Amino acid sequence: MTEMAHPGAAARAAAMTSTVVENIGLLLTHDLERPEITDAAIVFEAGRVVWWGSTAEAPAADTRVDAAGRCVLPGFVDSHSHIMFAGDRSDEFEARMAGRPYEAGGIRRTVALSREATDEQLLANATSLVGEMRRQGTTTVEIKSGYGLSVHDEARMLRLASTLTEETTFLGAHIVPEEFAHDHDAYVRLVTGEMLEACAPHSRWIDVFCDTGAFSEEETRVIIAAGKARGLGIRLHGAQLQESGAVQLAVELGAASVDHCTYLSAADVDALAGSDTVAGLLPGVEFSTHQPYVDARRLLDAGVTVALASDCNPGSSFTSSLPFCIALAVRDMGMTPAEAVTAATLGGAHSLRREDVGHLRLGARANAQILDAPHYRHLAYRPGVPLLHRVIVDGQIEAAECF
Ligand code: NIG
Ligand code: FE
Repeated sequence: MTEMAHPGAAARAAAMTSTVVENIGLLLTHDLERPEITDAAIVFEAGRVVWWGSTAEAPAADTRVDAAGRCVLPGFVDSHSHIMFAGDRSDEFEARMAGRPYEAGGIRRTVALSREATDEQLLANATSLVGEMRRQGTTTVEIKSGYGLSVHDEARMLRLASTLTEETTFLGAHIVPEEFAHDHDAYVRLVTGEMLEACAPHSRWIDVFCDTGAFSEEETRVIIAAGKARGLGIRLHGAQLQESGAVQLAVELGAASVDHCTYLSAADVDALAGSDTVAGLLPGVEFSTHQPYVDARRLLDAGVTVALASDCNPGSSFTSSLPFCIALAVRDMGMTPAEAVTAATLGGAHSLRREDVGHLRLGARANAQILDAPHYRHLAYRPGVPLLHRVIVDGQIEAAECF
């Protein structure tokens, strides 16, 4: 079925049949010639998009679905999450709302609780969060490790994550764990040695939290070089807590994405604009830390490719909702509804270097959503309202309530 979970035999058989969704009020394809089509129909077959055009010209198919004027758009691509964890840190959120700053050190609380959790507990929590995401239109999700920070725990968390998605990221360099507090160098050696060896088979990407209280730029270079040599793609957490060299380092290293970008210099924006590195914006973090929202307009006007992602994690952003992120991006970050929806679909796909998702061009994976609304701008116009009518995963139509 999807890259978010493995299919059963019945699901595979269903994906081989064709489905036409007709009477679509507005179809968002992101096709270069016909990006938006009104009074549209779309046909899925064998899990792919095979036709779109006007309802009047729609071909026959095994299954017909009447969208009754609703909007259809690609499934969201959430390119940044940390959903493999155990425990709760809502007390930190409450303290931040009362004026306390966010501190990277809180990660260690989740590490302690996650190490104690069984595989079953970790997988149940992550599966439930994937279900939450699906109920809000997300059909592709990236999942990072980073709450294990030992060879055994990082490897098991990535092995569990790889049962839920193809987009797994090794984040052993999330923070230096308690037991290495007095010997960062030894921890960097562990991450680049035995831990990387154990984790690489379950990972597509490597990531480093390059910021105050986490890893320095020099340490980041060493860790990324090791991951690259082991064949992993590069992602970075950068400029979350302060302006730093992390964004330009990401560009220099050829990272697919540098995420957060909360504090950007003019030189950072220029570097991003002249590169293939996507700026991953995570407004759920700004919402739950009282940090300033990113001026996405400045990035878009400079020509930077932008992705919107949830950063779903128990510390800085415990939301699984891309509609919520879209609403914040439109309300507070200077993005139009079209730009915000594009960043949560096509932008996420660029961030993950995926060509098969994030759009509904002919040949794309048939991952889409039918909104209970005539236009995708309702995602921002109606914040907090569950607007998903149906989600389509590899051509199979599922009711939003079935996850
Ligand atoms: O992306 N910045 C690093 N990691 C997460 C926060 C993790 C936590 O606080 O538990 C983030 O915001
Ligand atoms: Fe993150």
